[in-house]
Amino acid sequence: MGILLKNISTLLTLQGASAKGGRHVQEEDLSIQTNASVLIEKDRIAWVGPHKKLPKEWSRKKNLKEIDMKGLTVLPGFVECHTHLIFAGDRAAEFEMRNQGVSYQEIAARGGGILSTMKKTRSAKVSELAKEGQDRANHFISQGVTTVEIKSGYALNLKDELKMLEAANTIKNLRTICTFLGAHALPPEFKTYEEYLNFLGDKVLPVVKKKKLARRVDVFIEKGFFPKTESEAYLRKAQEMGFEILIHADQMSLSGGSDVAVRLGALSGDHLLQVSDKEIQALAKSEVTCVLLPAADLYTKTNYPRARDMIEAGARVALATDFNPGTSPTQDLNLVGLLARLEMKMTLPEVIGAYTVGAAHALNLQQEVGSIEVGKSADILCIEKDWRTLFYSVGDAPKKAVFSRGKKVFSSL
Ligand code: NIG
Ligand code: FE
Repeated sequence: MGILLKNISTLLTLQGASAKGGRHVQEEDLSIQTNASVLIEKDRIAWVGPHKKLPKEWSRKKNLKEIDMKGLTVLPGFVECHTHLIFAGDRAAEFEMRNQGVSYQEIAARGGGILSTMKKTRSAKVSELAKEGQDRANHFISQGVTTVEIKSGYALNLKDELKMLEAANTIKNLRTICTFLGAHALPPEFKTYEEYLNFLGDKVLPVVKKKKLARRVDVFIEKGFFPKTESEAYLRKAQEMGFEILIHADQMSLSGGSDVAVRLGALSGDHLLQVSDKEIQALAKSEVTCVLLPAADLYTKTNYPRARDMIEAGARVALATDFNPGTSPTQDLNLVGLLARLEMKMTLPEVIGAYTVGAAHALNLQQEVGSIEVGKSADILCIEKDWRTLFYSVGDAPKKAVFSRGKKVFSSL
C-alpha cells in the first residue's frame, strides 16, 4: 500500500544541499516546492513533485492512502548524529559543582565524571537501559528526529559495554546507528591508556564485530583522556577490522584529534572547539564532517566552534545535541539550532542543512536519509508552521507528524 502526502503547502526537499554534499548550504539548496506531493511506497520515497504533475498511474492506484497536508510544511526528518543515549543515573550534583567553579577535568581526576556514570551503568540491567533508552528515543522522535546515533562508553569493560550496545540495538521507531566508544575514559582496572586500548582492540572489538552490535568506533582524544599516538594505532586496527571511525576531537585542548581524523579518513571529527586555521583548512579539503555540539559548549561554559570559518572554507558541518549526563544533559534540538544561529552565526538554511544532509554524511547515510528524493527512506517531518519559525523560539514545539520508513511514528496534529 502506498501513501500520498498531497497538497503540501511548502516542501523542503534539501535536494540542492544533498547535491552539494552538504557544503555551502544556501536558501536555494533547501529546494523549496509549493503545492507539492510526496508519494511513499513501503518504506521509500517513490515520487516527489508538484501535485498536478503526479503521474496518472499513481493517482489511479488502488490501495493508495491519501493524506491532505494542506497548510503544512514538510521536510526531511532530522538526523541526530552524536548522542550518548544509553546510560544510568544522572550527574546533577556534579553540574552544581561545576557551577561553583570545579572544572570538568578536576571532577574526572577525582573519580567523578564519566567514571561515576560508569558505576551506575555497570550495575544496570539491559532491560532498564533499554527502557530508559526508548523513552529518550521517543523524546527525540517527538521533535522530528528519524535517525539517532547511539554510543556505548559508560561501562568500559567487555560485559557491560556489550550490554549497552545490546540495549541500544533494541531501540525502535527510528533508525539507529550504534557506535562503540569503549575508549571514553580509563577504567580503574587498567593502569595505562595503551594497555586499555590494546585490550579494546584485541578482546572487545572482535566480539562487537562478530555480534554485529556496532559499525563505528569512536575515541575521546584529549589531554587527561586518550593520547593521540596510541589512539591512532587503535583506530587503524578498528578500520582494518571493517569499522567506520570517528573522533571526539579537540574539544578542551588542541590534542590532535582532527589531524588524526583527516589522515585516517574518519567519518567525522566531533566538537572541534580548539582547532586553528590550519586544521580548519585540512578539514574543509577532506571528507570528514565537522560535527558541532554547541549545547555541550553552553553547559561547559566555553567558547563555541568556528562554524563560520569552517563553512566558508568549504567544510561540511553537522549539528547534534551530544546528549549525555555530564557535559550536555539535554535532548533539545531547538536549543542546539538556536545556539548555532545566535552564537555561531549560522544561517537558518545552514542549520537545517546541518541537521539533515550534513548529519546524514556524518553517519555515512547520505544515500539513505537527509533529503526527500526518490529512492531514499521515507523519513519525513510535517510541521504546522512556516519553516522560518524553526530554531527560533525557546520552548517552541510546533504541532507535527513524523514518518519513519514510511510509517507514522508520532503525531500531535
Ligand atoms: O561528548 N567528551 C567526551 N564525552 C562526552 C562527555 C561525556 C560525559 O561527561 O559523560 C562529550 O562531551
Ligand atoms: Fe560526545
